[in-house]
Amino acid sequence: MMSRSLLRLRQLCLRWVLGTRGCAKKMAATMATKSFTTGVDLKGEEGSISRGSIEVCRLMAPDDANIAGNVHGGTTLKVIEEAGLILATRHCNKNNAGNRPAYGTLARVERTDFLQPLYIGEVAEVHVHLGYTSKHSVEVMAFLWAENLITGSRRLTNRASMWYVPVITGSGEMRVIPEVPAIEYASQEEEERGRERYLRQKRARQDKEEHLKKIQPLFVTDKASQMEYRTSTGDVSHYSVLNSQSSLIHSVQPSDCIDNGYVLGGVTMKLMDEVAGIVAFRHCRTNVVTASIDAIDFHAPVKLGHVIHLAGRATFTSSRSMEIEVIVDSKDYVSDKSVRTCSAFFTYVSLDADGQVKDIPPLELHTDEERKRFEAGKKRYLHRIESRTSCR
Ligand SMILES: CC(C)(COP(=O)(O)OP(=O)(O)OC[C@H]1O[C@@H](n2cnc3c(N)ncnc32)[C@H](O)[C@@H]1OP(=O)(O)O)[C@@H](O)C(=O)NCCC(=O)NCCS
Repeated sequence: MMSRSLLRLRQLCLRWVLGTRGCAKKMAATMATKSFTTGVDLKGEEGSISRGSIEVCRLMAPDDANIAGNVHGGTTLKVIEEAGLILATRHCNKNNAGNRPAYGTLARVERTDFLQPLYIGEVAEVHVHLGYTSKHSVEVMAFLWAENLITGSRRLTNRASMWYVPVITGSGEMRVIPEVPAIEYASQEEEERGRERYLRQKRARQDKEEHLKKIQPLFVTDKASQMEYRTSTGDVSHYSVLNSQSSLIHSVQPSDCIDNGYVLGGVTMKLMDEVAGIVAFRHCRTNVVTASIDAIDFHAPVKLGHVIHLAGRATFTSSRSMEIEVIVDSKDYVSDKSVRTCSAFFTYVSLDADGQVKDIPPLELHTDEERKRFEAGKKRYLHRIESRTSCR
């Protein structure tokens, strides 16, 4: 028979500890006593929570896990994004008495590294604070700690930086608010560093937009091309791009949206991670985990009732990691219009039964396009190594 405490833990695991909407308020009482390595002062007016930062906690439940009991990378992103959305939305409605409410909509997530695994039964503690405000955008910095409830130990598992653009919605349209309230910086240097990050992401976005227009077609679907992938026995070659390419189709439900009827960025990222995970699993056939995600730009909103089409393919393998490209289109079947929403490169790692990193079977390249993508993937891989080393 299950003991009382186990039963209680199970009950807790089966639901959110604190819904994110109520969470900021409920956490407020404990905020004043907490100090964080980010150096952010969490003391503030009105019930001790500063308007410039919040903390959201969630107990990781069994339905957040992959088959090996680690929390899905996509779930982690969703939790982080929800915290960011609360803070950005709160900030841009700060002086909004009587006007139409604005919602912080996720426009960009900078490259995110998964530093350590997060396990079921641990508490995901997300701390977010405002980094910079431009005229129309808000930068939110996030830190996620995994807390062991029994021992009280904590480890940093993720750092993320997100850009939100506050929008006003209604009558079927979305428009950017005229001006985001500016934040106060601790020093001129801090403001200058924020401005540099803002200008850097603007430049990076321009390059990415060019790339997004060029990617197609994603899938090898015609029979003649598929012949190139067949072995002498007529089977599709196991480690080919064709064999692991995967897709996922999702119809947008109210639970995917904020109450203005637009999909939350975290929901889309979770679906993207799911499709990337399927590609990695089909290629490696082991327990695979997300190691990092390159910057994602969300070019177009996705609405309630739209159908999201996600497609993923392997682009590059190093000896112990693989890169997967995920492309997201959303379709309004009423008007028959389809929009490319975003794309991203995921890096996955394969683990053995003891959780140790395993070698990845090399990707077999069959076409010139695949060879080109592999070379481009190798450059990105080397660039990621370089930026990780320079961050240390
Ligand atoms: C974000 C969005 C509202 C911007 O709309 P837009 O018409 O392209 O806006 P503009 O070009 O006029 O730019 C408005 C502001 O947004 C910022 N912005 C636009 N795209 C951005 C991005 N990818 N990353 C960061 N900031 C971005 C611009 O820098 C500008 O701010 P600034 O004037 O202070 O520099 C639009 O691209 C969009 O709706 N994207 C989807 C958002 C979404 O639904 N997210 C959830 C994903 S499912």
